[in-house]
Amino acid sequence: MNANYEQFFKEFSFENGVKLKNRIVMAPMTNFSSNTDGSVTEEEVNYYARRSGGPGMVITACAYVTRNGKGFHGEFGADTDELIPSLRQLAAGIKAQGAKAILQIFHGGRSCPPELVPNNETVSASAIPAEGEGQPVPRELTTSEVETIIKDFGEAARRAVEAGFDGVEIHGANGYLIQQFFSPHSNRREDRFGGSIEKRMTFPLEVIKEVKKAAAASKTPFIVGYRFSPEEPETPGITMADTLVLIDKLAEQDLDYLHISLLDHTSIPRRGVDDTRSRLEIVQERVGNKVPVIGVGSIYTPQDAVDAFATGVPLIALARELIIEPDWVQKIQEGREDEIVTKIDKNRQQELVVPDPLWNAIIHTPGWFPGV
Ligand SMILES: Cc1cc2nc3c(=O)[nH]c(=O)nc-3n(C[C@H](O)[C@H](O)[C@H](O)COP(=O)(O)O)c2cc1C
Repeated sequence: MNANYEQFFKEFSFENGVKLKNRIVMAPMTNFSSNTDGSVTEEEVNYYARRSGGPGMVITACAYVTRNGKGFHGEFGADTDELIPSLRQLAAGIKAQGAKAILQIFHGGRSCPPELVPNNETVSASAIPAEGEGQPVPRELTTSEVETIIKDFGEAARRAVEAGFDGVEIHGANGYLIQQFFSPHSNRREDRFGGSIEKRMTFPLEVIKEVKKAAAASKTPFIVGYRFSPEEPETPGITMADTLVLIDKLAEQDLDYLHISLLDHTSIPRRGVDDTRSRLEIVQERVGNKVPVIGVGSIYTPQDAVDAFATGVPLIALARELIIEPDWVQKIQEGREDEIVTKIDKNRQQELVVPDPLWNAIIHTPGWFPGV
């Protein structure tokens, strides 16, 4: 193996004792391929299995914690005990290949397609639509409904424990419900969940508390991570300065990791800080050794990974590249990095083991994946 890449293969230990065989993580990716009843399909399990032989840890697509949080066609659920066998199938499919399996748990809030939620009624922190033409106006959740959704996150985590997952990742990123509560754009509430930045952190913090309670009931150490997006383009909207406040708070919650969501690991802040370094560098410096950070974003070549690790993050995640090249980790480990493919080959769907709905989304969305 090329000596520059040896750092990827150093074992990683979480504070709770769980060990990863290497520092590469598969980032969560929705695949639009589950059954309409919220159970996973065989195609989907095969797709994960094909990618779970290399990375130390695989984070699944997001799973809804309650029916009014279903954000995608073909999304699987973690909202009822009837779905535990389905979740178990997924966890086992990943773990059999040697990776730790993490279930991403989620509520889509105002971003849910109305046709996927009960009575076509989307819900959010406040009745503020997302920006852009024709966005539905969500209904503001009542205080007691918010409290129920917090419990739903805990219940989904309990099901993940029962299904044999090694952990859960709380999806607080990409503009979905948890972020909608933190954002001054979407949260204009006047109860204990809205107002000052401290109050806007109440919902994410109570979700963490509830999920950690479920994790504590596990017989074996159970990982709890949290994903966040550092900035929003809207005004008002989350700024890098707001995110520094959030991550200071997150770092005190005894989480196992923080996972930033970025399209490009080298991207720089839009506003909020007087700092020209990358968002990833700024976040890693701020968090320090308090909790491990997972970096991500447009990592295709092993050199991209070396550059991302140079920020000091202990773990990095790859999303698109692991669809394009399921053997990314193995090829580096075997000194065959010159065989790594970094553009999607439109003739290799079968070989790449990608379910039709995800494949169709990829090849019909120009500019999303390299090679399309
Ligand atoms: C097909 C696809 C589906 C995604 N679904 C999710 C998701 O369910 N949850 C999430 O947090 N991020 C999701 N993302 C974002 C990725 O986790 C990742 O942050 C982003 O693609 C940047 O990493 P990359 O450059 O390695 O692709 C998705 C990305 C892709 C390409």
